[in-house]
Amino acid sequence: MRYFYLGFILTVATVIGLLGFRGGMSRKPPLEIFPDMVRQWKIRPQTPSDFYQDGWSSRPHPEGTVARSKPIVAAGEQVQIDGKPVYTYQDTPLMTGVTSITKSATNFVELSPIPVTAKLLDRGQERFTIYCQPCHGPVGNGLGVTTKFGMGGVIDLHSRRVVEMTDGQIFYTITHGSPAKLMGPYGPMIPVEDRWAIVSYVRALERSQLATMADVPEADRAALNK
Ligand code: HEC
Repeated sequence: MRYFYLGFILTVATVIGLLGFRGGMSRKPPLEIFPDMVRQWKIRPQTPSDFYQDGWSSRPHPEGTVARSKPIVAAGEQVQIDGKPVYTYQDTPLMTGVTSITKSATNFVELSPIPVTAKLLDRGQERFTIYCQPCHGPVGNGLGVTTKFGMGGVIDLHSRRVVEMTDGQIFYTITHGSPAKLMGPYGPMIPVEDRWAIVSYVRALERSQLATMADVPEADRAALNK
């Protein structure tokens, strides 16, 4: 029985000793068995230091330093979302074409986040001519020059499939390539603002190629009906 009491008291003392004072305050420095590199022989940024003459640990940028990222500018205008500039390192819909990167890539943004201006369309036309026209053709009907040299299956950008795509899905296709990978990814070559410019230009092409008589001003219809 004596051993039982002894054991019992020892157990209680150990449990209280280990757990009883958790969360308690103490002014004494904690017992440090492994410091885990908490204190190191280095200078932290933006702290005083007597190593340099000006007493600062941080150094000014060397002349000619290039910023990691600049705000995105499309057709001469700084792009802003919710009144703030957009940077290339942000995972915004503008950068990815999808509304949230946590879901799989099917939640494409509906409309281009970059406002469509005449200047943007001009830029889109120029970039389309460079990057897309060889396969998709000048008007986007899939009859580019490469089809003469054996490139098959180029989609007509005025087909129902592409017309019904959201802007984000076309952006995504330019960035990552077509589903069957016959068309490669152009994300690495075309900056993000130019990809959106191309998307808007593809929309303009669709609008022009799928136009009906109702789109023509009434005064001009007679001339076309001849
Ligand atoms: C090397 C030739 C080639 C170039 C250059 C090219 N494409 Fe394509 N594109 C294709 C082919 C082939 C397909 C259809 C086959 C497939 O789905 O893989 C296609 C499909 C597409 C589709 C439909 C994707 C889908 O989900 O069905 C879109 C939209 C598109 N291209 C847009 C563009 C745009 C915009 C550019 C310019 C940035 C471009 N393509 C440049 C060959 C090309």
